[in-house]
Amino acid sequence: MKKVLVAPSLLSADFAAMGEAAARLAQAGADVVHCDIMDGSFVPAITFGAQMVAAVRPKSDLPIDVHLMVEAPERHVEAFAAAGADWITFHPEACRHPHRLLQSIRALGCKAGIVLNPGTPVAVAEYLVEACDLVLLMSVNPGAGGQSFLPDTLRKARAVAALREALSLAFDIEIDGGINVDTARQAIDAGVNVLVAGNAVFGAPDMAQAIAAIRGGSK
Ligand code: DX5
Ligand code: ZN
Repeated sequence: MKKVLVAPSLLSADFAAMGEAAARLAQAGADVVHCDIMDGSFVPAITFGAQMVAAVRPKSDLPIDVHLMVEAPERHVEAFAAAGADWITFHPEACRHPHRLLQSIRALGCKAGIVLNPGTPVAVAEYLVEACDLVLLMSVNPGAGGQSFLPDTLRKARAVAALREALSLAFDIEIDGGINVDTARQAIDAGVNVLVAGNAVFGAPDMAQAIAAIRGGSK
C-alpha cells in the first residue's frame, strides 16, 4: 500500500493571502500543495500562473503539485518548473504530443503526470503510464471547486490500479474534485493514494482536523 497523501487546493484559499494559506497548510499537516492553473480556454475560468507559484514557493517546504488546465501545456511547463513546481500534470486532450511532454517534465526534474477528465477513458492512459509518476483522475469536470463527486470515478480508479498492476508500474493515483471524508475513504479503497481537497479543507473550522480526517488517520 502506498502512503496516503492529502493535497489541499489553493483554489479554495483566500486569493488575497495565498502565501499565508500555503504556510498554514504545512502547519496543519498537509502533504502536498495543489495549485489549479486555469487559462480561460481549456476551462472557462482563469486562476493564476507561474508567478503566483513562485510567490508561494518560499512559504512552504511541501511539494507543489501544479495541475495545468490549460491549452498547449507544453508552452508552460518550463516556467512552472522554474517557479518551483515539484509535480506537473496536464490534460492529454490539450496537448498534441503527451508522451513527449511527460518526458520533458521529467527532464525538468519534476514528477510528471496526466489528468483524465470524467469522460476520458482509461485507454488514453494505457501507453502513457510508463512515462508517468502519477495519474490524476478528475472526479468532477474541471473548472471550479465545490462540485459534487462523480461516483463512476471509483470504477476508473480501480481500472487504473489494475493497469498499474498489470504493467508492474509504481505511479501514484491522485483524485481531484468533491473529496470529503466519505469520498476520500471510497477513493482509497479503490486504489487512490493522493487526495486533492479544496472546500473540505479550506471550508473546515479546523484545517488540521479536516486534513487528518481525509487522510483517514487520527491526529
Ligand atoms: C477543479 C480543480 C480542483 C478543485 C477541487 O477544476 O481541479 O482541484 O479545486 O475542489 P473541491 O475539493 O472543492 O471539489
Ligand atoms: Zn486540481
